[in-house]
Amino acid sequence: MSSKGFDAAALSDIVKAHDALPGRLIQILHDVQARFGHVPEDAARQLANELNISRADVHGVVSFYHDFRTEPTGKHIVRICQAEACQAMGSRALTEHARGALGVDLDGTADDVTLLPVYCLGNCACAPAVMIGERTYGRVTSERFDELIGGLEDGLRGDD
Ligand code: FES
Repeated sequence: MSSKGFDAAALSDIVKAHDALPGRLIQILHDVQARFGHVPEDAARQLANELNISRADVHGVVSFYHDFRTEPTGKHIVRICQAEACQAMGSRALTEHARGALGVDLDGTADDVTLLPVYCLGNCACAPAVMIGERTYGRVTSERFDELIGGLEDGLRGDD
């Protein structure tokens, strides 16, 4: 999902939907990221105010969980699993290949594609696993990765 502009009123609605309970911060952050594509600094500040917690509390949760992003993402999100089963089946080499093919580092964005690490996609039997958008692919070789990315590039030219 790509990033959308921050909207303070929409953020307040998310907080209200969770009864402004500080104990629901993780669920709130998931909803914030689903709405805005990432957790912007303005959102972290507003969340701290509306939940009556410190900004350090918000930042601590955001930085602890790999799923939360603080920077806007591209139109396409490519995740490569970095967890143990995938590492054993070559995900590090696949990641290096992906960095070269996309011209971007992990956690970076270029040409509307964001490359992210992920720690287990629940597809360990078919390692190494890659997720593009909402779809997971297994046993991804460098060649298969290039094919998948070729499809994305078609999309970036307006064909999706
Ligand atoms: S370790 Fe990669 S999908 Fe589980």
